[in-house]
Amino acid sequence: MLKVATDRVAQIAEVQFSPCGVPCPKDVLMRELTDADAVIADGRTVFDAQVLKAAQKLRIVARIGVGFDNVDLKAATERGVYVTYTPGVLSDAVAELTIGLMLALSRRLVEADAFVKSRKWAEPTTFPFGIDLAGKTLGIIGMGQIGMEVARRASGLRMSVLYHDVVRKEDAEQLYNAKYSSLESLLKDSDFITLHVPLTSGTVKLIGRSELRLMKPTAYLINASRGKVVDQAALREALKERRIAGAALDVYEVEPIPHDESLLQLDNVILTPHIGSRTVETRTKMALTVADDVIRVLKGEKPVNLVNRELLRS
Ligand code: DGY
Repeated sequence: MLKVATDRVAQIAEVQFSPCGVPCPKDVLMRELTDADAVIADGRTVFDAQVLKAAQKLRIVARIGVGFDNVDLKAATERGVYVTYTPGVLSDAVAELTIGLMLALSRRLVEADAFVKSRKWAEPTTFPFGIDLAGKTLGIIGMGQIGMEVARRASGLRMSVLYHDVVRKEDAEQLYNAKYSSLESLLKDSDFITLHVPLTSGTVKLIGRSELRLMKPTAYLINASRGKVVDQAALREALKERRIAGAALDVYEVEPIPHDESLLQLDNVILTPHIGSRTVETRTKMALTVADDVIRVLKGEKPVNLVNRELLRS
């Protein structure tokens, strides 16, 4: 899908595709950016102060995604480099994945598929019971655009919605009957908990050992935000000791997940390979959003999806 973006930018500028991989090693990145006016950035290559300093001509780091935790915002702003992202266009895709993971957990869909394919299905069936979502409580941590789309879908499934955020979201309360809750009460009262916060210094290990201990033993945790928001060792322990019922993860502390990570051996966790926005429609929209901001900046205009908005004032 990146080609959609590069083809569009190529209409007005020379485009070079760097085969350096993801994440791009720092020395290669610094070399590649020497003469670049703009860069389209993945979510794992690190754009720190040193890299930005080496890129003397750079005017924009265009993140193809909503997370910009891999870009040193302060350093970019000091250098007058725009940092853009793709908010909104991926909210449906991530919300759909979240609901899909919740259904996979509640109805044991991954196990059910393996059960049939391993020819274990005989009558009377021994396949374990699932649980209904209707009537259950979903706790949403982070009620931004993605959290809102999850709330919309959860209310359609007739779930009760609790949410926690740094600010009250009255539209979520009015539209989806979501109830604002402290983090502690949300952890105690929810049957499913889903994370939709950005990775910042305030959200690293937001869910650690003590937070997991507050969850009901029948509750499930879903994370399609950033791996480092959860203390992975603490989660591993809680799952092994069956202190919570299960989890579904799309993101990890280290990606791709190391082959010796013991989460891979657990039967009460569903693991997907960071596919939150990975649909044809969404990735196309993300590519076009990125390309349009790059083109605006190369033409001397202001970008629309700007993260470091303070640059608009200068
Ligand atoms: C995002 O939007 O940040 C996703 O994680 C894809 O990079």
